[in-house]
Amino acid sequence: MWLWGSFTALLVFGGVTFAAEPLDTGPLRDKANIFIPLSTPAEAILEASLLVSWICFGIFVVVGGLTAYAIWKFRKPRDDDQTEPPQVYGSLQIELAWTVIPILITVVLILVTARTVGEIQNAEMPDDALRIRLVGHQWWWEIHYPGLGIVTANEIHVPVSSPEARRITHFTLQSADVIHSFWVPQLAGKTDCVPNRDNQTWIEPHKTGTYLGNCAEYCGTQHAGMRLRVVVHTPASFDAWVKNQQRPPVEDPAFAAGKLVFETTSCVNCHAIAGTNADGVFGPDLSHFASRQTLAAGQRSLTRDNLKAWLADPQAVKPGALMPDMQLTPKQVDNLADYLLSLK
Ligand code: CUA
Repeated sequence: MWLWGSFTALLVFGGVTFAAEPLDTGPLRDKANIFIPLSTPAEAILEASLLVSWICFGIFVVVGGLTAYAIWKFRKPRDDDQTEPPQVYGSLQIELAWTVIPILITVVLILVTARTVGEIQNAEMPDDALRIRLVGHQWWWEIHYPGLGIVTANEIHVPVSSPEARRITHFTLQSADVIHSFWVPQLAGKTDCVPNRDNQTWIEPHKTGTYLGNCAEYCGTQHAGMRLRVVVHTPASFDAWVKNQQRPPVEDPAFAAGKLVFETTSCVNCHAIAGTNADGVFGPDLSHFASRQTLAAGQRSLTRDNLKAWLADPQAVKPGALMPDMQLTPKQVDNLADYLLSLK
């Protein structure tokens, strides 16, 4: 029980530590707080974990209190009494108490946890649920909207759910290499992305905004940098986002030099941009790259300077990243940055 208590506390407070990690999350720093859930599964998980934590805290107080009392009270024999205290052997009452009470507590914990797990896993998905297929990669997230024909990366866009118009988003979770784990603390708990297996989860966010997530299963060098964002839109702004993602990126001859750099280097082996000869699937789809808030799987804000630093030397920005240094000249980096930033 002690162990269980400390473990729960570690999990609970671990969540907060990760939220405050000093990376480039700017004003969104508190957007990963498990104590402020804003979506149905996250609320149920917090409720269950608080109950479990309170039970463990109660056990801690009783056991710790009795131990402290015994240590203090019996710290040395009284001067006038050098005999041993009465020794108790084979007390049925004590045996029953320390068997039955822990069993009852464990049963309560099992029931509470099983009910929450069941409520989340067995929830009926409405026909109009938005379907997303999320694929974990070392070290980024591939995002497919099969019903909408959209492919993007690292930033999931979903509509908000309201009592008048419920909108649930359902996820099929997969992995392209090792085990990753989908975790957006304010929206949904951790669900693993396991190779050769489809896991499921869902969210029903009640509030618009941007929420931060992170891979929650150690998956290699950049595990901690495998970040994720969920942008929760009003229905109208979600429709606008969908429309924009569905159209091919606008061709602007002003950025032809950058496009040429992209099309004539190995970029095309790993990345795809709709309307070009690039159809690689090993790295993120860049068709609407400039519509994203971040680059390098959420590690940097998408600014021109950050993008140039990334293109010039990916390993300096994200050590271990599978994007190689393309040995581009400063001029090529400039042109390529201009082109990528035109892909709204
Ligand atoms: Cu992906 Cu940890």
